[in-house]
Amino acid sequence: SSNAMWGGRFSAGPDAIMEAINASIGYDKRLSDQDIAGSKAHAAMLAAQGIITQADAEAITDGLSRVKAEIDAGEFQFSAALEDIHMNVEARLRELIGAAAGRLHTARSRNDQVATDFRLWVRDQCDAAMQGLEALQRALLDQAEAGADWVMPGFTHLQTAQPVTWGHHMMAYVEMFARDASRFRDARARMNECPLGAAALAGTGFAIDRHATAAALGFDKPMDNSLDAVSDRDFALEFLSSAAICSVHLSRLSEELVIWSSAQFRFVTLSDRFSTGSSIMPQKKNPDAAELIRAKIGRVTGALVALLTVMKGLPLAYSKDMQEDKEQVFDAADTLMLALAAMTGMISDLTANRASLEAAASAGFSTATDLADWLVREAGLPFRDAHHVTGALVAKAEAQGVDLPDLTLDEMQAVHGDITDDVFGVLGVHKSVASRTSYGGTAPAQVRARITDWRERLS
Ligand code: ARG
Repeated sequence: SSNAMWGGRFSAGPDAIMEAINASIGYDKRLSDQDIAGSKAHAAMLAAQGIITQADAEAITDGLSRVKAEIDAGEFQFSAALEDIHMNVEARLRELIGAAAGRLHTARSRNDQVATDFRLWVRDQCDAAMQGLEALQRALLDQAEAGADWVMPGFTHLQTAQPVTWGHHMMAYVEMFARDASRFRDARARMNECPLGAAALAGTGFAIDRHATAAALGFDKPMDNSLDAVSDRDFALEFLSSAAICSVHLSRLSEELVIWSSAQFRFVTLSDRFSTGSSIMPQKKNPDAAELIRAKIGRVTGALVALLTVMKGLPLAYSKDMQEDKEQVFDAADTLMLALAAMTGMISDLTANRASLEAAASAGFSTATDLADWLVREAGLPFRDAHHVTGALVAKAEAQGVDLPDLTLDEMQAVHGDITDDVFGVLGVHKSVASRTSYGGTAPAQVRARITDWRERLS
């Protein structure tokens, strides 16, 4: 039999394969709340404009509430023959309230309906991402505060570079996640315009009030161009772009946790709650959550590339290709929210090992730059010369198998005569970090000031 919604010009129903490739109900049932909210706003507007009767609008609204209750209770029978969430809801509404249900789709198309539903859904996910990011920032701030002056090695090329503080390292991620949150905020603001009333593509001759439906659904305004409204999915792409960048940040932090929790580093101990064991090696405590976050980023960047690819060749206006937007975004959003929650749990629970961090901080000639700076400041050398002299001192220490502060003054003076006892004052890692007082630097005073700023901003 042909389709009850659009079967007027058809004499045969779809092949089973056609139904299988066409149906989206298996996943777009997740839009049921948005779909019902959109339909209620539309019905109320149609009645207010005198396009349908108040009695029909009330029957539709009550019926939609019953449909929602059935879905919430898990009693709703979703049907692949009815393709998608929009037609599933409307068909059930007709069973519940009869002919009035047929008036709901006046001055509306599934094209503006799905664009509206999906914008509402993605808008919520922007809010959820911002919330998740804020929780993660708070966990990082707690860690930063506890170890604002704990020294650790800062790396470039994963080779010891200069000492930094644990607090400074934690705060670097607070900044990254703040920018991620601001990207979701921007995307949300830009997507907050309502497609409803664009109808199939050209608008409608019915005297609808698009401002009313936009306001009822919490949008700032109706979209200005009906073709654009049903054609673009840039709001979903912006969400995915923001999610992909955020996932990269999560993945980098995960990578650090994997390295830091190894026996070779021992910078952090992950909690039992966020680790797993090995079925053969009894000593193992593995950072699986960090590894999985690092891996799951592939799903998010994959979703972005997939949707960009879906959209790139589409002429205006709607093409069925665009139905492929949803699974990608659903999966990316689920993945991101789970990754944010897991990272927040790991960060809140982990113990930073102050003694290991400090021991590692002084290894690898980490204060060589401080020594070169001292030669510039106290002995008046040009920085390039100071760099060369310090390099020679490092080579000497390395040859003797000692750290820079272990060289004697005589050994240092053999390399450069102007070096005095005073130099030992700058070779310690605590002195080194305390001296880096430039704005945004690693000095504990700077780190604490940034922590205070962020506590205020998040309160
Ligand atoms: N399930 C469809 C989608 O997600 C709804 C829009 C269908 N519109 C159409 N003209 N076939 O894109």
